[in-house]
Amino acid sequence: MQLSSLSTLNYRNLAPGTLSFPGGVTGVYGENGAGKTNLLEAAYLALTGLTDVTRLEQLVQAGEQEAYVRADLESGGSLSIQEVGLGRGRRQLKVDGVRVRAGDLPRGSAVWIRPEDSELVFGSPSGRRAYLDALLSKLSARYGQQLARYERTVSQRNAALKSGEEWAMHVWDDTLLKLGTDIMLFRRRALTRLAELAADANAALGSRKALVLTLQESTSPETYAFDLAGRRAEELARGSTVTGPHRDDLLLSLGGFPATEYASRGEGRTISLALRRAELELLSEKFGEKPVLLIDDFSAELDPARRQYLLDLAASVPQAIVTGTERAPGATRTFRAHAGRFTLDGPEPADHDDGLAEAVPGVMTS
Ligand SMILES: Nc1ncnc2c1ncn2[C@@H]1O[C@H](COP(=O)(O)OP(=O)(O)O)[C@@H](O)[C@H]1O
Ligand SMILES: [Mg+2]
Repeated sequence: MQLSSLSTLNYRNLAPGTLSFPGGVTGVYGENGAGKTNLLEAAYLALTGLTDVTRLEQLVQAGEQEAYVRADLESGGSLSIQEVGLGRGRRQLKVDGVRVRAGDLPRGSAVWIRPEDSELVFGSPSGRRAYLDALLSKLSARYGQQLARYERTVSQRNAALKSGEEWAMHVWDDTLLKLGTDIMLFRRRALTRLAELAADANAALGSRKALVLTLQESTSPETYAFDLAGRRAEELARGSTVTGPHRDDLLLSLGGFPATEYASRGEGRTISLALRRAELELLSEKFGEKPVLLIDDFSAELDPARRQYLLDLAASVPQAIVTGTERAPGATRTFRAHAGRFTLDGPEPADHDDGLAEAVPGVMTS
């Protein structure tokens, strides 16, 4: 997968325009607040249709009503255009001009590595679940669908519990058990390979402590119906579903100790890198093509050896975009970011392409 160019209009603080990206590593450097993270976020959105902001309005430039991002892609010799329109809390996706649903976009197109990933290690179980669920939804469209249906069922069931509708529970429980069991079984299957890849990556990052991933399940496929029935009274009292895969955690143990409580900041950052590396490998294995690698702030919180690991990783994939407050060494093309604009600043690429294509809507970026 290769991102030939990215266009944005009214996206956060980014000036409207189009940036073209060569294969290999593109570096983007500039001061804090320049728009480097916003650029990667826009690229990830255009590539995958995904964003993790809670309100889509946050992505729309202050004072504007709608925002737009577009990725021109090349994959296995064929070209495609993916567009995302944002406005009034809605997200509209198009591939080659035809409206599609989120699940219809290619699922292995990008991996985003950023300093906030440390929260995967030190944050709450919900962040680790979100990592696992997002990854598994990329690996299997069916998982994503089952998960969405499961989450809807949990919230409808919670509403019924809150209004004391005990009589309705047998109906909800049937659906819950079926979907929840599917989810648990899928997670168990995927975890084997994920755990292997993450452990390998952690070792490759120079950690001498073994990283072990396990699922902490709130119930199991074998005991689910029994556990659910056994906690009925508690659920009615609390008005919420207290057992099931929405309560699971992805336990990270480093050298035999839970990383969430015991790992140092640096060890935690290393583990989060290992998790992203594992994601990259799993998607490559599944789709037979390397995703575009987006690395935000390559030097943040990292010692020289781990920085080098990230730069080597970027150089090992067909295409990577690497941001930082300093220039990423070895980049094919480098942009300097300033106040939402990106100007070419590196060695000229051989084809004398100046890195700036015609702006799709609006003005040029330099
Ligand atoms: N919806 C928005 N409208 C306008 N500006 C925004 C919006 N969201 C974020 N910004 C601005 O974007 C800037 C942050 O850009 P960012 O990409 O995080 O910078 P960095 O280069 O440090 O990664 C901040 O100045 C912030 O105020
Ligand atoms: Mg940033």
